[in-house]
Amino acid sequence: GPYRTILVERRGRTALLTLNRPEALNALSLEVMRETVEAAEALDRDPDVGCVVITGSGGKAFAAGADIKEMQPRDYMDMYLSDWFAAWDRLGRLRTPTVAAVRGYALGGGCELAMLCDLVVAADTAVFGQPEIRLGVIPGIGGSQRLTRAVGKAKAMDLCLTGRTMDAREAERAGLVSRIVPDADVLTEALAAADTIAGMSAPVAMMAKEAVNRAFETTLAEGVLFERRLFHAVFATADQKEGMRAFAEKRPAEFRHR
Ligand code: HXC
Repeated sequence: GPYRTILVERRGRTALLTLNRPEALNALSLEVMRETVEAAEALDRDPDVGCVVITGSGGKAFAAGADIKEMQPRDYMDMYLSDWFAAWDRLGRLRTPTVAAVRGYALGGGCELAMLCDLVVAADTAVFGQPEIRLGVIPGIGGSQRLTRAVGKAKAMDLCLTGRTMDAREAERAGLVSRIVPDADVLTEALAAADTIAGMSAPVAMMAKEAVNRAFETTLAEGVLFERRLFHAVFATADQKEGMRAFAEKRPAEFRHR
């Protein structure tokens, strides 16, 4: 393909994006960031893609963080003027649902990348953490904010201040992980979840995602109003007619993504 550090495959309406630097435990270099964001935005624009799965190659890591060797020599002006890591925000603004399939280490930027996805399907052996403080830095791709929203202050402070990791069970109990499955089944489970999502009406799935994400940006009253307006809007879709007609006719719905 056109990329050096990632692989992109299409499987029906599901797309699979694989971070592909297994020799560096899929460390998130600038090149990985550029390629991942560019590929994800291209998939987001493609009406034939209904869900994107993001995973890491090699089985040992989803991603062991931002690329430490690349950051080590930088000074403040390098970081500020290049707005280091800013492009990752664009991943959180995709309209297409995303699923992280996590095997092994999801540390630092790897944990942050998983949290930028909508679902996190984790192996029972997965390890999550924000160990940046051990390197004399702090999270830089939203970790202090998204982890706190996902798991609350108690766990977020513990992870960010001590650098300790959470295993998959603790991460699931805390609300960071959607599902835990045996290591060998992670990709299959994530792709199956993605196929399920991609089989739903694409615009309605986008609205569901928008509604859930609104909960992190606004008050309850505004969020509930936002949801209700979107709920009214889905009645403008052909897919609402099809979905409810199919229920009445006791057959599976065939959504046309309109
Ligand atoms: C660059 C990395 C890397 C990383 C691993 N590697 N993590 N390279 N950046 N984040 C490289 C190693 O240097 C090594 O390369 C190869 O991958 C294999 O890693 P090992 O350490 O030999 O593997 P292992 O002994 O199994 O240990 C795995 C590990 C450890 C526990 C995950 O690699 C580790 O602690 N990595 C760093 C985790 C971390 O601190 N992440 C947060 C990064 S900071 P060679 O060439 O030696 O074979 C971050 C945000 C920073 O994400 C924000 C600041 C602005």
